[in-house]
Amino acid sequence: MNEQTWQAVDDWFTERLIGADDALDHALAASGKAGLRSINVAPNQGKFLHLLARIQGAKRILEIGTLGGYSAIWLARALPPGGQLVSLEYSPENAAVARANIAHANLADRVSVITGLALDSLDAMLAEQTAPFDFVFIDADKSNNANYLDRVLKLSRPGTVIVADNVVRRGRIADADDHDADVTGLRDYFDKVSADARLDTTAVQTVGSKGWDGFAITIVGA
Ligand code: SAH
Ligand code: DHB
Ligand code: MG
Repeated sequence: MNEQTWQAVDDWFTERLIGADDALDHALAASGKAGLRSINVAPNQGKFLHLLARIQGAKRILEIGTLGGYSAIWLARALPPGGQLVSLEYSPENAAVARANIAHANLADRVSVITGLALDSLDAMLAEQTAPFDFVFIDADKSNNANYLDRVLKLSRPGTVIVADNVVRRGRIADADDHDADVTGLRDYFDKVSADARLDTTAVQTVGSKGWDGFAITIVGA
């Protein structure tokens, strides 16, 4: 087993289960042209998030970390008519690419990309008493994950589903000698979700075209 095999299996699934998709293919091509790093979720992971949001019946979705809008397109497509996705992005350049990709996908009517530090945008939403979100995807700077969780919980309701990306980082999460800020941020996130009696969480490792990583999934209880 090696990374080539993981890639071949992801290609096999993607060809059968997703295929060519003008909006998604365009989003990746335009992101590449604009020089964005290809750290978007893989196609089958994007569809996984999309299905989770539909299973949940999400009408209001929050994303932290937009990049070029690839995962945002998958999530926005899960919304029913009148649904809304708010996606937070620090970089104005990335946000501009994302907005164009989202418009090309005919989703501009239901997606707002908000530029700025995500913590500031979250605090602004809290101050405005924004309506709670049904589904949240956390995928920005991992060092802030525990801080994002604090805010996200205040923007949640019983039943809100929270998914965090990149919680494995090629096994670094469990390497006690690894004190990188992203890794310790992820550990703080796990400490927080496991200490909070209202939250039920699991995490799964993934391998594939994006290497070895994983998702954490939480449901907010009463
Ligand atoms: N969710 C995207 C990938 C996001 S990559 C997808 O799968 O398609 C992470 C993004 O988070 C980058 O675009 C980066 O600019 C952004 N980011 C990093 N730190 C941030 C911060 N403090 N506030 C908001 N966005 C941030
Ligand atoms: C990185 C960020 C991501 O969100 C991801 O899915 C993969 C890599 C990174 O910053 O290296
Ligand atoms: Mg990610």
